[in-house]
Amino acid sequence: MNALIVYCHPSKKSYTHAVLQQIQTLLAQENWQIEVSDLYALDFQSDMSEAEYKREGFAEVDLPIPPDVKAEHQKLEWADCVLFVYPVWWSDCPAKLKGWFDRVYSVGYAYGHRPQMQPMKTIPFGAVICTAGHPNAFLEEINIAQSMQTVMLGDRLGKRFTNKEMLILGGTLDLEKVRSEHEEKLRELTLKIKTCFG
Ligand SMILES: Cc1cc2nc3c(=O)[nH]c(=O)nc-3n(C[C@H](O)[C@H](O)[C@H](O)COP(=O)(O)O)c2cc1C
Repeated sequence: MNALIVYCHPSKKSYTHAVLQQIQTLLAQENWQIEVSDLYALDFQSDMSEAEYKREGFAEVDLPIPPDVKAEHQKLEWADCVLFVYPVWWSDCPAKLKGWFDRVYSVGYAYGHRPQMQPMKTIPFGAVICTAGHPNAFLEEINIAQSMQTVMLGDRLGKRFTNKEMLILGGTLDLEKVRSEHEEKLRELTLKIKTCFG
């Protein structure tokens, strides 16, 4: 089985990078083939150009799709499971990942299907794994956990994924308190993915 990890963090010394490594190890132990779209390492362009806006904003699906976006489409078509791994920045994903959705979810592919275009396949499993400074209980109390779940699972993963899970790995300001709980959550997620593919 093939797993695409869309990873967004600028530093290899970050906790989010350690989480990336853990999930890669857990999936490799289950013999998954893994590809990582490391958005900072790729220097992925997150801003939509005016030419792209012309296509996306007016659903001009016959206008060209940029090569870097096409490359992400190919990775999505290859994947049986897609995992988004990022830190929570201002109650959402970093701007670079938001730009990935803006550009890669192009019209005629991820929505607004047209007869002349092959639509994005429905992917069996999608997972969102985000690290957060605040503890989960606080993010739930101020309704941010729910809003992130609505945006990520309800809208961005949407109906494009059959099974969806979201892990908020909160409390990273006091990392030693939560580290083992996070590791357990990652193991549980891997088990869910494994069970899904029988
Ligand atoms: C620009 C920025 C914005 C942040 N915004 C939030 C936030 O809104 N909520 C939160 O819980 N943590 C927030 N944090 C904390 C990060 O989520 C936390 O540092 C990260 O998940 C774990 O650290 P890492 O950068 O070592 O991976 C923010 C951190 C930065 C740098």
